[in-house]
Amino acid sequence: LEQNGLSEIKNSGDLSKLNDIRVNLLGKKGPLTEVLRGMRDLSKEDRPKVGEFANRVRDNLTATIEKRRTELEKERLNRKLAEESIDVTLPGTPVAQGQPHVIQQIIDQIEDLFLGMGYQVVQGPEVELDRYNFEMLNLPKDHPARDMQDTFYITKDILMRSQTSPVQARTMEKHDFSKGPLKMISPGVVYRRDTDDATHSHQFHQVEGLVIDKNITMGDLKGTLETLAQELFGDRFEVRLRPSYFPFTEPSVEADVTCFNCMGKGCSVCKYTGWIEVLGAGMVHPNVLKMAGVDSETYGGFAFGLGPDRFAMLRYGVDDIRNFYLNDVRFLSQFNKRG
Ligand code: PHE
Repeated sequence: LEQNGLSEIKNSGDLSKLNDIRVNLLGKKGPLTEVLRGMRDLSKEDRPKVGEFANRVRDNLTATIEKRRTELEKERLNRKLAEESIDVTLPGTPVAQGQPHVIQQIIDQIEDLFLGMGYQVVQGPEVELDRYNFEMLNLPKDHPARDMQDTFYITKDILMRSQTSPVQARTMEKHDFSKGPLKMISPGVVYRRDTDDATHSHQFHQVEGLVIDKNITMGDLKGTLETLAQELFGDRFEVRLRPSYFPFTEPSVEADVTCFNCMGKGCSVCKYTGWIEVLGAGMVHPNVLKMAGVDSETYGGFAFGLGPDRFAMLRYGVDDIRNFYLNDVRFLSQFNKRG
């Protein structure tokens, strides 16, 4: 019995077989239990001898089973480790990643540039008072230039801002000039009662810029716009200023940059002028300074307003502004900087 048991144990190939063997040999119905049970029929002298012998056999079998169990468990672990090993040289499965909206990417880039030049980034409300959107920008009620911007009115005095320029007035009003000049940009959404088409959207973006200090000239404005154009489009881009009209600046200009398509040679995109109009700007009107409580004898400055949507269209050759607002990921994922 012992020899048979030992060889069965040694040859057992897996843990469940080993368990069966243990139950057969040592279990309640096994031969050893039977021997021990039969002890009461033995004589007094034989009983300890048989008992000792049977116990020794049981201990030997139990120890051998334990040893074999440890071996089998080790084998099973090794097999599992081998099966589950990872080949770290295999290419990974890419995880789909989003990215900031293309317009936001342009705004981020503009913010970085101006923050680097010591400007602050200021936010203003999209639901705005007529007072800030128009009156404090030198556009009293009934001023004909209000028609330049078809505005969504909520009440007589409250509107959806039609430009980011009201943030100029709000910031100037609060600024303490004894502590230094004011240099700010204000990115955000603006609204106009336009019928949506390839080049118009009732909702679009602007970035306002404003610098107020002593001795600011139009040269400072031009230099700033050149830095901006070169940051956004490239070193070879130049800026040209043309006279224009805005009620809140005097003189007012429109700024053109070198046509991205022909680099100034003249093509159908720029109507053979070599230039593309990108923003409005000018020297802040003394009335605007006065209304914001700024001493217009001592201080002056420039302001500009640009459209990131238009910048994105020019930079990426997008011919319909509505693409930016339809939220079609097939379109938007083209501007994934992570590639
Ligand atoms: N707010 C003007 C517009 O929306 C742009 C502008 C801003 C012009 C600042 C001059 C100075 O048309």
